[in-house]
Amino acid sequence: MTTATAAPAGLEGLVVTDTAIGDVRGDEGFFHYRGHDATVLARTRRLEEVWHLLALGHLPDAVEVTAFTGRLAAWRERVPADLVAATHRAARSGADTLTTLRTAWSAAATPLGARPWLDLAPAERLDQALGLAAIGPVLVAAGHRAGVADDLASAPAPTAAAYLHLLTGATPPAAHVRALERYLVATIDHGLNASTFTARVVASTGADLAAVLVAALGALSGPLHGGAPSRALDMLDAIGTPGRAEAWVADALARGERIMGFGHRIYRTEDPRAALLRETARDLGGDRFELALAVETTVRELLRRHRPDRVLDVNVEYWAAVVLDAVGVPRPLFTPTFAVSRAIGWMAHALEQTEHNRIMRPSSRYVGAFGSG
Ligand code: COA
Repeated sequence: MTTATAAPAGLEGLVVTDTAIGDVRGDEGFFHYRGHDATVLARTRRLEEVWHLLALGHLPDAVEVTAFTGRLAAWRERVPADLVAATHRAARSGADTLTTLRTAWSAAATPLGARPWLDLAPAERLDQALGLAAIGPVLVAAGHRAGVADDLASAPAPTAAAYLHLLTGATPPAAHVRALERYLVATIDHGLNASTFTARVVASTGADLAAVLVAALGALSGPLHGGAPSRALDMLDAIGTPGRAEAWVADALARGERIMGFGHRIYRTEDPRAALLRETARDLGGDRFELALAVETTVRELLRRHRPDRVLDVNVEYWAAVVLDAVGVPRPLFTPTFAVSRAIGWMAHALEQTEHNRIMRPSSRYVGAFGSG
């Protein structure tokens, strides 16, 4: 008989797998992908270079990245027109944006040839992992706007440019593409959060990689995980002008409310993604940047006074909201856009799980009653 050990609530602090994909060091305000500082990658590399690093293990040279970018673009063009149309209809019928995306990703499994990875050779698994993540921008845009199927062939090859093109139907400004790309790179992976853990659990069963993606997206949809970056923007709208920030925030704290975009489970410093995206928002300019900066300063100061015992600093969602808004991503698409980049991380974890797989099967402790019969 094996003796099971009780795990802490929420599995907090428990190591359940080894990984060579990345790590978060909350006390240092640092996270990395395969040993490369993730915020440096976001500042200096294209999305496809970092995607290649995650999926294939190394940063590509110029030839490799061109081929890789083309490979991803070719997958986007393989999304069937009837799936694009059905996704648009679902969105128009009032379905929530993340639900629409989840349904579309699930419906893409068969036309894209998804099969249990246990039946696939490693090269086929990689191909599936790339293809399923690559179609994310098409599926999000399909929910948002009619005519996406017609624009697929003319969309630019780099993913960030294609995403903005498909969302708007127009050629995006280069500054918007670069800003979105920084956001996407910075949000690919972030330790064994609930959705990434879900991806590994489902992958451990040998399921197809579309099932992995859909399950992870389900985990991300929970308000405790995917969050609501749009709420930070709602707060800025409600505050309106820098002069009103102090009274607004003090009132919210007095009512016992949490200030959106502040605090983090792991970071005991400023979230490094927030610093990156603040800089990105500054580069983009605009009225909202000045307001966001003033509100950030006020909130930090008030939170310091409110909870001197605890570091409650700005997190990724605050500045992500400002950047996504500035590049023209509509508020309801903030979390689906997060899913577009996080899908790259989920697929990397699924592929890693396939390398030394053992089905995840923990135990539970029965604490209920016994019948007398
Ligand atoms: N505003 C005001 N108070 C906050 C706060 C915030 N943004 N974040 C945490 N606190 C307070 C909590 O009320 C709690 O007080 P208590 O001990 O009296 O109950 C204390 O700080 C610790 O909170 P806790 O929930 O243990 O922190 P956590 O590390 O588990 O939670 C978050 C992290 C992100 C869930 C939390 O900070 C939060 O809800 N932030 C706002 C939502 C947000 O920005 N989400 C995006 C995260 S990327």
